[in-house]
Amino acid sequence: MPDPTLLSLQRDHLSELQSRYETVLAEHGYDSVLIASGAAPYRYGDDQSWVFHGYGPFVHWTGLAGQEHSWLWFRPGRAPVLWLYQPVDFWHATPELPDEPWRAYFELHRRQRPEAPALTQPGRLAVIGDPALLAGVPGEHNPGPLLAALDETRVRKTGYELACLAEANRRALAGHRAARDAFAEGESEFGISLAYQRATRQREAEAPYHSIIGLNEHAGTLHYQFYDTRPPGRSRSLLIDAGVRYRGYCSDITRTTAGPGEGRFAALIHGLEQLQQRLCALVAPGVSYVEIHRKAHLGIAALLSASGLVRGLSEEDQVATGVTRAFFPHGIGHFLGIQVHDVAGRPVPPPADAPFLRLTRTLEPGMVVTIEPGLYFIPSLLQPLLDGPQGRHLDQTLLAELMGCGGIRIEDNVAVLASGAQNLTRGGL
Ligand code: GLY
Ligand code: MN
Ligand code: MN
Repeated sequence: MPDPTLLSLQRDHLSELQSRYETVLAEHGYDSVLIASGAAPYRYGDDQSWVFHGYGPFVHWTGLAGQEHSWLWFRPGRAPVLWLYQPVDFWHATPELPDEPWRAYFELHRRQRPEAPALTQPGRLAVIGDPALLAGVPGEHNPGPLLAALDETRVRKTGYELACLAEANRRALAGHRAARDAFAEGESEFGISLAYQRATRQREAEAPYHSIIGLNEHAGTLHYQFYDTRPPGRSRSLLIDAGVRYRGYCSDITRTTAGPGEGRFAALIHGLEQLQQRLCALVAPGVSYVEIHRKAHLGIAALLSASGLVRGLSEEDQVATGVTRAFFPHGIGHFLGIQVHDVAGRPVPPPADAPFLRLTRTLEPGMVVTIEPGLYFIPSLLQPLLDGPQGRHLDQTLLAELMGCGGIRIEDNVAVLASGAQNLTRGGL
């Protein structure tokens, strides 16, 4: 049983959610909303399904990210009704819910059937979830304005959500320590993945996203998705981007480690980490996240100059001419919560200078964001730069040396507080 403080925070979370949903339904003119947890589709032409992760609004209420074919019915002023799919099935296990106080908040039913339950007097009803599961279900399916408003209920995390995110960070950090040790022992990407899973006690299928574990050049593929089962001849670098899901909530942490004798690469990691910490320190209410992204580019330009990779171009010119974009092609981060790239980050599209930025909002208390600058040696991005007018400003010998280390990313999870912020990855909460 988790600590009683967390369980009491969960009661508060549910009361807060009740009030947020009541407001949203009143504003949008609905009497009730039925939420489908979802179900993993079968692979085409196969009797095996994809890995299941539950629909966000269902997890927001229940914390149950692995519960397929279940339904939650919300009506203002009433206890939410939760139908859990629990078939008698000798092929699969149907685990019982843990005996925790949050269950008492719901009117709980167990069902053998996966379809939507018949509702008594739903009034004007919205039904939300994977459209593939909603065919024939009475009610308005996934109305856009309502979905957007419900996404907004997930933006400012409750105290319970912050505590879950902090615990997801603590657990992932144990995995990152084990991964670093496995790297030092010369393990392969696959071996490092096993060390991470063992230390986090989490199957890869349950992780918030496929762990990114790249040695050497592989560290330069932003979302590298394979694991070599043999170690390279010489392990020069490790980039691991991996999280944990705890009671539905995700962590998303990246660490980069230099191998023995990689002094230049280690110095770059140190420089990027200092920049990353300065960027984390900018997180506060009222701050534009896009501006943090822009400051990251200026900081990377300074690092490129200090390391000698770029000479004779001011920081501003490096940004304006796309030099920093070639080394740091992704956004500075995103919202984090039930989804690793959590919802409602882009009410306005990103500006032209930050096309991949997933968060364009001004920060408010309760938001949780990642801060994840990177500096990569990606041949397909650097070659056009070398061939163009900026090429003469780049140190090609140094670039060629560092290319084999792939790249660096350092990523923490940061909660915006009433004033300032709390870094959940570095000992927060
Ligand atoms: N792990 C994916 C990301 O950092 O956004
Ligand atoms: Mn991230
Ligand atoms: Mn990440």
